[in-house]
Amino acid sequence: MSSRKPIKKAVFPVAGLGTRFLPATKAIPKEMLPVIDRPLIQYAVDEAREAGIEQMIFVTGRGKTAIVEHFDIAYELESTMSERGKDMGILEATRATPGDIITVRQQVPMGLGHAIWCARAIVGDDPFAIFLPDELMIGSPGCMKQMVDAYNEVGGNLISVIEVPKEEVFSYGVIDPGAESGALTEVKGLVEKPAVEDAPSNKIVSGRYILQPEVMRTLENQGKGAGGEIQLTDAMARMIGDQPFHAVTFEGKRYDCGSKLGFIEATLALALEREDMGQDVRALAQRLLG
Ligand code: G1P
Repeated sequence: MSSRKPIKKAVFPVAGLGTRFLPATKAIPKEMLPVIDRPLIQYAVDEAREAGIEQMIFVTGRGKTAIVEHFDIAYELESTMSERGKDMGILEATRATPGDIITVRQQVPMGLGHAIWCARAIVGDDPFAIFLPDELMIGSPGCMKQMVDAYNEVGGNLISVIEVPKEEVFSYGVIDPGAESGALTEVKGLVEKPAVEDAPSNKIVSGRYILQPEVMRTLENQGKGAGGEIQLTDAMARMIGDQPFHAVTFEGKRYDCGSKLGFIEATLALALEREDMGQDVRALAQRLLG
């Protein structure tokens, strides 16, 4: 159904300090760490573009300007490369349409819910997407495209979920699942970072959301939750019942690039798949292991 208001805006909370990757992230944002040769943030922005999203809203903080520069025109680089007759495709693919990169600042780290709320004036009255760039989602089509397709069917609010071993749920938002139909699951409840024995399922919120603008009003008076932070999960939980709420089980591979092990897994897995280097990487890995 094309009558639903299309998803044209996405919010990327990128104000986090990236302490888990220190000292690498002392002077550069963690979102700029590359998986092979693309910074993490670009995987998320490319996924957004594939889903038809046009406006990228970065919720940033101090020391994060490199993220914005990455999507700008790099004049010196481009003119030097073009003088030398080099292929410009790689650079052109990063450039944003003028005006489509917007930044707002989150001055104090008060939680994901607070970060999203910082974008309220830009989101306005439109439904919007959220990307947590730490979660690297590789699918064909991409995760957000899968969600937009579902949104066009059912509307309302959607979150992407994946199943994890039950003992890992305490690090995530977890859904209380209702009726299932294909990739769609009705969401009856949501809880942030539950104890393993209290978790309503092993389906975790995996960093992609399509939300209605009312969530901003809910966040406005959202108290602190898990970890003493203003949690997006808690605000979403309060919207269940007022608006349709569904989970989309992601079909593809997910890498948790918020952890070092996940980052290494992503790098290795993507390198093995690459046409230009997969064979060499395989030989190299075998040599290292042998
Ligand atoms: C955040 C969300 C959580 C979600 C997770 C996915 O947690 O609050 O619901 O499952 O991202 O990575 P964080 O990783 O910021 O603690």
